[in-house]
Amino acid sequence: MLQDDLNRIRAEATAQLAGASGKKELEELRVRYLGKKGEVTAILKQMGKLSPEERPVVGKLANEVRAAIEEALEARTSALSAAAFEEKLKSEKLDVTLPGRRPVLGHKHPLSLALDELKEIFLGMGFSIAEGPEVEYDYYNFEALNIPKGHPARDEQDTFYVNDKVLLRTQTSPMQVRTMEQQRPPIRVIAPGRCYRSDALDATHSPLFHQIEGLVVDKGITFAHLKGTLETFIKQLYGEDSVIRFRPHHFPFTEPSAEVDVQCFHCHGEGCRLCKGEGWIEILGGGMVHPKVLQNCNIDPEVYSGFAFGIGLERITMRKYNIDDIRLFYENDVRFLGQF
Ligand code: DAH
Repeated sequence: MLQDDLNRIRAEATAQLAGASGKKELEELRVRYLGKKGEVTAILKQMGKLSPEERPVVGKLANEVRAAIEEALEARTSALSAAAFEEKLKSEKLDVTLPGRRPVLGHKHPLSLALDELKEIFLGMGFSIAEGPEVEYDYYNFEALNIPKGHPARDEQDTFYVNDKVLLRTQTSPMQVRTMEQQRPPIRVIAPGRCYRSDALDATHSPLFHQIEGLVVDKGITFAHLKGTLETFIKQLYGEDSVIRFRPHHFPFTEPSAEVDVQCFHCHGEGCRLCKGEGWIEILGGGMVHPKVLQNCNIDPEVYSGFAFGIGLERITMRKYNIDDIRLFYENDVRFLGQF
């Protein structure tokens, strides 16, 4: 009897569907009962053999069974996906009692920290800040600073030449000339920036480094002003008890010239590893602006005088933080940078 078969199919199918444990199993059951070759379909195909009286009865029952199976299929499908959703909610539970993750904040590079401090000190003394090109004319970098072609000072400052007339500046001193071309005295500026030389990289040399140029031009400026300015600067940077000394030196664009050393604050002049046994550490060069340099900028050396100095930013930063290798500044190792 087809009716019996249909009733059996309904009972079996609904029971199996109710116990199905996943999408794959549900699909297999759907195919097995309702698919083209499924059991309900097979029964419908046999309808032709039935008598005209039986046909509507069996047909009605077959439709009911199909509807019942479809309903069971749908019920199980939504029950399973609700359970899966519930499971997901549980596993992704937000624990609001966990402390938040603090975002890592960057901070300034030690060279920038030292430069900021230096700028503050000079701004406090009435200086303003100027900036100039790193790709510079030979004229500003050498010629106008009293270093003509063939001058031995050029040997110590070999650099990258773009062409005969253009190079990467070897010092910030060209800013002296650029400033005096654009401003009339009184002049009081510092000019920090990158410099380049074809030096091999080692613990104390780098082909890229930074200088801060200083320039003061006015009537009646003397070497005493230079000394007072630099002493004030060093004491503010390294502390009131720091001691400096001026040592005679030669620079082509200052006359007289001096190099300035700070007494080693590690051994206080005794001589130690930090100062290489010297007791003193050289930190800058300076002097009275050479009359020829003033003349090159149309400033009358009979009326005006001035002083200039050049500070090595890496040097003073290394002394400030006791850093013993210049390469640390450029390697971007966060274990080093994180300490400042
Ligand atoms: N530019 C010089 C250098 O790199 C340092 C220097 C010396 C700058 C004397 C000056 C100065 O302004 O007066 O060696």
